[in-house]
Amino acid sequence: MPLVHHEGGMDAESFTAFADQLRRYVRERLIPAEPEVIAADRVPDAILDEMRAMGLFAITVPEAHGGIGMNVSQYVETIRLLAHAAPAYRSALSISVGMVCSALKAAGTEAQKAEWLPRIARGMIASFALSEPGSGSDSAGLMTRAVRDGSDWILTGTKRYITNAPMAELALVMARTHPERLPGNAHVSAFLVPMDRPGVSVGRPDRKMGQAGSQIADIVLDEVRLPHDALLGGEEGKGFRAAMQSLDNGRLSVAAAATGYARRILETATRYATERQAFGEPIASFQLIQAMLADSEAEIYAAECMLADACRLADTGRRVTIEAAAAKMFASEMCGRVADRCVQIHGGAGYLAEYPAERFFRDARLYRIYEGTTQILQLVIARAMLKALAAEA
Ligand code: CAA
Repeated sequence: MPLVHHEGGMDAESFTAFADQLRRYVRERLIPAEPEVIAADRVPDAILDEMRAMGLFAITVPEAHGGIGMNVSQYVETIRLLAHAAPAYRSALSISVGMVCSALKAAGTEAQKAEWLPRIARGMIASFALSEPGSGSDSAGLMTRAVRDGSDWILTGTKRYITNAPMAELALVMARTHPERLPGNAHVSAFLVPMDRPGVSVGRPDRKMGQAGSQIADIVLDEVRLPHDALLGGEEGKGFRAAMQSLDNGRLSVAAAATGYARRILETATRYATERQAFGEPIASFQLIQAMLADSEAEIYAAECMLADACRLADTGRRVTIEAAAAKMFASEMCGRVADRCVQIHGGAGYLAEYPAERFFRDARLYRIYEGTTQILQLVIARAMLKALAAEA
C-alpha cells in the first residue's frame, strides 16, 4: 500500500520496524506452517502465543488500556501484511482487534473498557455474534431475546456462522430487547457475554469450503443470566448502531485481508508463469498470460489505494460507511478474479490439490460473503448516496 498515515497512531519509525518484523514473520514462520494449519484445521497454540508476544492482539487497543494504539491506517496495513499468509491467522485475531475492540472503544462504558480492552491486548480471542439461523443479511430481524429480571438480563437464542466461537472467551452478542421492530432498529441491544457463563454452549465447528484453520460454529444461549453491566454502553437500543459501526471497521479489515491475499496469489501465479514451459518458452513470455498478470496487478493496486484513502478518512474521525463498503466490495470481488486467473495460469495444475492455486480459489470465495455480501454492500452504498442527495434537496 503506498500510504500509511501515522497521525494519531504509533510513531512512523516504530510502525516501520513493526511492519518489517511482521513481513519476516509471515514469510519465515506463518507461510511455511500453512500445511500444518490446514491438516489440523486450527492455528497451533504455539503460533497463537507467538502472535500474542509480537503484540498482534494489542494493535488497536489504546495505550492507556495496555495496547499499542495504532490508528486505523496502521491497523489495516498490519492486517494486509498478515493476510499474505493463509486466512486462518488473521481470522484468529481479527474479531478481537477489529469489531469487538472497535465496539468497546466507540460504545463501551469506562468500566467495560477497563475490564475487556487489556484482555484483548493480552491475546483474548473474541467473537461477534450477530447472524442467526433466520437472519443474516437482514440483521435487525434477529430473534435472540434479552429480557430483564430484576437488574439482570436473561439471554436466549441461537447465533450462527460465528467466527472463532470454539476458542472465544468473549462474544459481543446482539439481542432483541423489544419484541417489535422499532424505528432505527432500536429494538436491538449489544451484550458482552463471557463464554464460560452457565447456559452458553458452542456447536461443533462447521465444515467449510475453504479457509481451513479458521473455525466457525453456532453459539447457543439458553437462559444466560448476565448482570446489568454486560449491556454495552449501559443503554438499551444502541446495539444495532454499535453493530453497524463495528462492521464499518470489520469491512476495512476484510478488504485488507482480500488485498493482502490477492498479492500473495499474484506472486504465486507470476512465479509459476516464469517456471512453466510451453512451446519451448516460459509461459510468462506469452502476451495472453501477461494480460492476466497485468490486470491483476492493476486491480490490486486499485484496492490498495481505496484502502489507504478509506483509512485516511477514518483517521480524521469521519464515518466511512460508503468507503468501507466500497473497499470491501471491490477488494473481495477483485481477489476472486485474481484467484481465478491464478488457477487459469496454472492450467491443469491449477485444479490439483498439490498446488496452492485451488486452495487460494476456495479461500478467496468467502470474502464476497461475510461481513456484508456484495449485494448488501451495493445496498449500503446506494442508500447512503440517495440519502445524501435527499439531504441536499
Ligand atoms: N454507523 C453508525 N450507525 C449506523 C450505521 C453505521 N455504519 N449503519 C446504520 N446505522 C444506524 C443508524 O442509526 C441508522 O439510522 P439512520 O439511517 O437514521 O442514521 C440505523 O442504524 C438503521 O440503519 P438502516 O436503516 O441502514 O438499517 P436496515 O435494517 O434498513 O438495513 C442493512 C441494514 C444494511 C441491510 C444491514 O442489516 C446490513 O448491513 N446487513 C448485513 C449484515 C452483515 O454485514 N452481517 C455480517 C455479520 S458479521 C460476520 O460476518 C461475522 C463474522 O464472524 C466474521
